[in-house]
Amino acid sequence: MQDYQSHYKESLEDPERFWMEQAKAIDWFIPPKNGITKDDSGLYRWFDGARLNTSYLALDYHVNNGRADQDALIYESPVTYESHTYSYRELLSETELLAGLLKDQGVVKGDTVIIYMPMIPQVVFAMLACARLGAVHSVVFGGFAARELAIRIDDAKPRILLTASGSVEIKRVIQYKPLVDEALDLANYKVDKVIVWQRPFVKAGMKAGRDLDWASLLKKASPCGYVELDATDPLYILYTSGTTGKPKGIVRDNGGHAVALKYSMKYIYGVEPGDVYWAASDVGWIVGHSYIVYAPLLYGCTTILYEGKPVKTPDAGTFWRIIHQHKVGVMFTAPTAIRAIKREDPNGTKHRHYDTSCLRNVFLAGERCDVATYKWLHNMLGIEIIDHWWQSESGWPMISNSLGYDFLPVKPGSASFPVCGFDIHILDEYGKRQPNNVEGAVAIKLPLPPGCLPSLWNNDTLFKESYLSRYEGYYLAGDGGYKDDEGYFFITGRTDDVINVAGHRLSTSDLEEVVAAHEAVAECAVIGIADELKGQVPVGFVVLKGGSFIKADDLESELIRMVRKKVGAVASFKQAVIVKRLPKTRSGKILRATMRCIADGKSFTLPSTIEDPTVLKDLKKLMFEKKIGIAFN
Ligand code: COA
Ligand code: AMP
Repeated sequence: MQDYQSHYKESLEDPERFWMEQAKAIDWFIPPKNGITKDDSGLYRWFDGARLNTSYLALDYHVNNGRADQDALIYESPVTYESHTYSYRELLSETELLAGLLKDQGVVKGDTVIIYMPMIPQVVFAMLACARLGAVHSVVFGGFAARELAIRIDDAKPRILLTASGSVEIKRVIQYKPLVDEALDLANYKVDKVIVWQRPFVKAGMKAGRDLDWASLLKKASPCGYVELDATDPLYILYTSGTTGKPKGIVRDNGGHAVALKYSMKYIYGVEPGDVYWAASDVGWIVGHSYIVYAPLLYGCTTILYEGKPVKTPDAGTFWRIIHQHKVGVMFTAPTAIRAIKREDPNGTKHRHYDTSCLRNVFLAGERCDVATYKWLHNMLGIEIIDHWWQSESGWPMISNSLGYDFLPVKPGSASFPVCGFDIHILDEYGKRQPNNVEGAVAIKLPLPPGCLPSLWNNDTLFKESYLSRYEGYYLAGDGGYKDDEGYFFITGRTDDVINVAGHRLSTSDLEEVVAAHEAVAECAVIGIADELKGQVPVGFVVLKGGSFIKADDLESELIRMVRKKVGAVASFKQAVIVKRLPKTRSGKILRATMRCIADGKSFTLPSTIEDPTVLKDLKKLMFEKKIGIAFN
């Protein structure tokens, strides 16, 4: 087994050589001659000039190389009581046929396609079919409301939108089509064609001239081959919450992505081709893109697509049942999911019904894994639990214990060490490196390794402004953290307005925009406060317009309804209170971080620029009375 330290050092000293070596694992049509170059905007690009196709690598390559009959995709749906397994051969033919359908509908290389779908096999076929044609997919999480979908439609300008008639949330049927119809009405950009997969338990209404039936079109489609793409051609756009109300379109290229994900399966997750790998996430998030769909398939593993929750579908034993039944070797989920299981089954009784001895490791991400959750899971399963840190922007882990190297002891609460290629530093506000054990901004020295975002969709300027301008020569991650004397990194949370609610990344600015739109609201602040189950939940603090006489309870219900309608239930916005004033600096900036500290019971330094310290006192009293925040519960 290789030694992590020396491999890591090599990756920083000569990134070009390191990644050109890793690139040999890919079956390119034209192998790379260049490692890293700069494009016309001065942005780094990996493997310019090389040619490949991601769908070919994920499917055809394996079919041609002895894996045709191996299970590629296992679909497990405890909410619809369905289960289906696709071999690599079958997954290839489903994808070829759907690619043929899309081609018949005029989709060509470079077109964008929005996919707004639940966790069903068709969503995987759709992503791979787009990749086959060189069309750029943009999957939108099914829990987002029509307005969020409309914003993404306007930015991505898709030639086609793919959707399904609905899904099931535990027992509640969610109809997708009315949301799609509303989004298309709200969007300025007009989508010509909507292709709908009808599920048996919910029928979507169809609009003549625009909406087409997926299954009927498939009957007429013929299988379609792959096109050769440049390594730097975009594979997908994934919109993610940023510091403004408008989501950012993260771009992923084909070449760097394939190299990085293949490397990660071997060196981070320590899996072998043929292993069963399960990421219990949603394809609407980055974890779903990278570790439900692309990485396991690029690496020749069997992946599981799970349409359910960790609890209530039907119970807190569902994860252990799937691991047992499908012999899962490595699992990936979010700490919030483990907390949900722990809450329902604190003694791990359900786990005892199953044999999970096949499971070698559980990887956790989406938020920092708290020590109590780590210990509970570690004790119950008796295996190493690996917390690892990354984001939509990176597309793959940046800090992790890398299991393909010599194993380094886990320190609960830490995501461990930087992954090869990531030169991570903790900087102070002037860009100076912080000493060990002192918190600062997490920044990564450029160039970023392959697989990370080269830019934002059609917006190099915003990319530079948002990520590259804060510290010259570094990528700004948006998280705070510190490094201890042994080199372990601890991520302490976002330094901006992004919050993580049950593993879902949301922007408080987006929520504030919705709350501020209420006719009685003069101004507001939405902050993410610590929550035992979900990690964080948003709470609204609202100042009423003079002359508004709305009852506090009525206002709260109306705001909750508005957020559900405009952002989605997934925001878990369940509390809004009226305040006389918001705490502000003399220049009028709302002291959101200080408000968060009060709710979370954390110490803080009173900002010297505070306008009126009594506002904080009143706020604390209100939080106590209304039981807002773990400090007052
Ligand atoms: N479509 C429609 N609605 C959705 C949805 C979807 N895809 N996903 C969630 N929602 C709704 C839920 O039904 C719920 O509605 P409600 O307020 O009416 O009950 C709301 O959004 C909040 O959902 P959720 O965050 O899932 O909370 P929960 O209380 O139902 O479940 C957990 C809590 C912890 C079990 C669940 O959030 C979970 O499994 N989280 C892990 C997420 C994850 O894996 N993230 C990926 C990062 S690795
Ligand atoms: P997303 O882009 O949705 O994956 O969210 C990324 C953000 O989630 C990061 O910027 C962090 O704030 C948080 N995050 C993800 N994984 C971890 C982790 N292991 N520890 C701490 N924070 C994490």
